[in-house]
Amino acid sequence: MDLGQRRWPPEPDEGELKLLTEVARSRLWTDGPWTAEVERRMERLTGAPHAVAFNSCTSALHAALHAMGCVRGTRVAVPALTFAGTATGAAHIGADLVFADVRPDTLTLGTDVPDTELVLAVDLHGVPHELDRTRVAGRPVLTDACQSIGSTLDGRHVGATGTHAWSFSSAKLIAAPDGGAVTTDDAGIAGRLRELRDYGVPAGESRSNGAVVWAGGHNWRPTELTMAMVAHRLERLDRWAARARQVAARVHRSLDRAGLWRQSAGGAARPAWHKIRFGAPGWDRGRTDEIERSLNEAGIPTHRWGLVPLHRHPAFGGGPDKVTGSGGLPVTEAVAAGTVCLGTEAAPPMTWNDDEVAQVCRILETMAGS
Ligand SMILES: Cc1ncc(COP(=O)(O)O)c(C=O)c1O
Repeated sequence: MDLGQRRWPPEPDEGELKLLTEVARSRLWTDGPWTAEVERRMERLTGAPHAVAFNSCTSALHAALHAMGCVRGTRVAVPALTFAGTATGAAHIGADLVFADVRPDTLTLGTDVPDTELVLAVDLHGVPHELDRTRVAGRPVLTDACQSIGSTLDGRHVGATGTHAWSFSSAKLIAAPDGGAVTTDDAGIAGRLRELRDYGVPAGESRSNGAVVWAGGHNWRPTELTMAMVAHRLERLDRWAARARQVAARVHRSLDRAGLWRQSAGGAARPAWHKIRFGAPGWDRGRTDEIERSLNEAGIPTHRWGLVPLHRHPAFGGGPDKVTGSGGLPVTEAVAAGTVCLGTEAAPPMTWNDDEVAQVCRILETMAGS
């Protein structure tokens, strides 16, 4: 069993290489048919009426915040247990980030969201958050859906309502050399996003300095090479999502038998599990460290994701002495320190074959009570 070798992203097949060669030869490297094709496919996949493609999810989130009216000083609620990219755009804009704790089961925002002007929720590890996707207590919601492509809620792919940012970076289910998209049910937001990703110039205008209408605009356009790859790979999403679900179901059973803690999803959700996160009961840090050591010695890699929660990070206004609220964020802090993710980003559990999954499960189950 060699679970340390790179297996993800999948190697381009001959058809994909031929397609990429054609795109390169076309010399139409941005603003072309493949950008439009990804937008059409993301609309079809999510059921959202509008999609705008970007060169990463980080830039998609940044632009979406601008398009939703976020300016310097806007108070934005965000879970502290997430990747920096969730908050990068908000930090650039100068928003006032208000970090929130996560639920102890799904690790997504609970309904007690801090009182802010905007809510930036995260579908962590593919688990859809259970807040309303458009508004929470009258406040607009932006969802960081970087990890939840392929996930469904109430039998439908996430993203039909509200505004969602997606990632096509190489560790994601649709993996390309970076890339992202925003889907939205708001035509005004979609229109502003098209301008924002193109230096702040309205569609159809030439890119002259005089045409810039947004100071917050940027060059956030995706390349046609990436978009051709994304469009091609979206055709295989169902297969990859099914495999991620199948492997997670098997591993989750073993983690449950072993009496370990694991992330779970609400009853209406069917995540395409992006990560399998687990730990010792009660997120006991020392015991989780021991479990991790034993797994690694048995040749099963693990990784620590979100070990430094954002409210503890000086780049986001936090730090060891600046924990929000007198009690800190107890779930975030305990989960960050006392849980691990199975496999690596280059060889996630969904890339393991059935024998390897069975072997990992056997080893996990022998840990019960050990
Ligand atoms: C939760 C989360 N948010 C944001 C990002 C940033 O996405 P990208 O790498 O496409 O900019 C990622 C992944 O890298 C992520 O996992």
